[in-house]
Amino acid sequence: MHNVALRPLVARRPAAPLAGTLRVPGDKSISHRALMFGALAVGETRISGLLEGEDVLRTAAAMRMLGAEVTQDGPGAWRVAGRGVGGLAEPADVLDMGNSGTAARLLAGILASHPFFSVMTGDASLRRRPMRRVTEPLAACGARFTGRSGGRLPLAIEGAADPLPIEYRVPVPSAQVKSALLLAGLNAPGITRIEEPEATRDHSENMLRHFGAEIVVETRGAGRVIALVGQPELHAADVAVPGDPSSAAFPLVAALLVPGSSVRITGVGLNPLRCGLFTTLREMGADLRVENERVEGGEPVGDIVANHAPLRGVEVPPERAPSMIDEFPVLAVAAAFAEGLTHMRGLQELRVKESDRLSATAALLTANGVRVEILGDDLIVHGGRPPAGGATVATHMDHRLAMSALVFGLAAEAPVAVDDSAFIDTSFPGFVDLMNGLIAGPAPIAAPEGNAV
Ligand code: S3P
Repeated sequence: MHNVALRPLVARRPAAPLAGTLRVPGDKSISHRALMFGALAVGETRISGLLEGEDVLRTAAAMRMLGAEVTQDGPGAWRVAGRGVGGLAEPADVLDMGNSGTAARLLAGILASHPFFSVMTGDASLRRRPMRRVTEPLAACGARFTGRSGGRLPLAIEGAADPLPIEYRVPVPSAQVKSALLLAGLNAPGITRIEEPEATRDHSENMLRHFGAEIVVETRGAGRVIALVGQPELHAADVAVPGDPSSAAFPLVAALLVPGSSVRITGVGLNPLRCGLFTTLREMGADLRVENERVEGGEPVGDIVANHAPLRGVEVPPERAPSMIDEFPVLAVAAAFAEGLTHMRGLQELRVKESDRLSATAALLTANGVRVEILGDDLIVHGGRPPAGGATVATHMDHRLAMSALVFGLAAEAPVAVDDSAFIDTSFPGFVDLMNGLIAGPAPIAAPEGNAV
């Protein structure tokens, strides 16, 4: 357990449907990258719409400790005065990345190709997560990593004095691993070449281009080969962070499940490598529309309108998993309310998220009266009966489990509680107020009797 006070919450069926227009906080993946690439660029990068969640604030603090000037001008408006590629300085203390796997893994790539010593740690959840997937390939640039058994955090890093470019085929579909290697490659002479067998989110590639790096991406089957020319001069650039589709997923699924609901979520990032959930929900019969499609800061963005409609179970193919890897817990909640069976295939990567999300999602549903099976790496949810609810869900320091359980509670027969909502702040500060604000009448998400929120 973590050592801050637990913040339990309970969600119950609202007296009125969800209605209204909202914006969700900035994209977490893009926010981390904007701060990191800004710190490696020459000049001042201005960021608007930055996610001010705990995870991203850890990255901001780490960039400061490495010598970049990071300033907040107003809500979501930040400036980063960068040090140039290879220009960061040895941190005077341990870099604490909190709950954030993205921050830790991407930072490992930066630290690997700077000639100094550093130590990185994180909270109990992050200290359990595998780091060898980045430290092993990064060692090829000349860096040395010493970690706890299995290569976990805390991790000591001796960065390479003369980093070498890396050629690597990433064995698991992971944008974090790919991005760590690209970040290391920035400070190595020659071409860093990364092959991924399945295409994963390409925000690093887009942003590298945006900051002036030479990068070529080729399709190879279902995957891609990315070639980055090392030691570019990155130039500061403005970044407009779109709303996070992974956060939009929660009010959107809640609107689909609560009868009579209709919400519009504006300015949501619609990068095709992030949109697997929307595709799947449409296949389930969801009434989802995208309007005002446009490109902002190199990323596609649009408004999503979601209206309540009955859903039916579907089969989700394994090749879609990378484009919705963070959305399976909330999809499983939607599946519990759908008619028939939903079979989600190829979910092995869910086992190494902020928690073991495969078993924790199954436990969330089972405790609330839904029939669920885990078959190898697949999750099968049997919909059809009105989900009972009534349980307290263990959230295992995992923001997405907490939000998924609360969405479940908004539509289940009996209220659903979570043991701790504190981690919601890592990715979606203001989640509870925003959800309650969509609903007229008494707040359906609140502290349990006798507890302050
Ligand atoms: C992320 C990549 C994904 C995702 C995470 C953010 C990123 O992790 O789950 O929330 O920003 O690159 P993996 O790369 O481990 O799949």
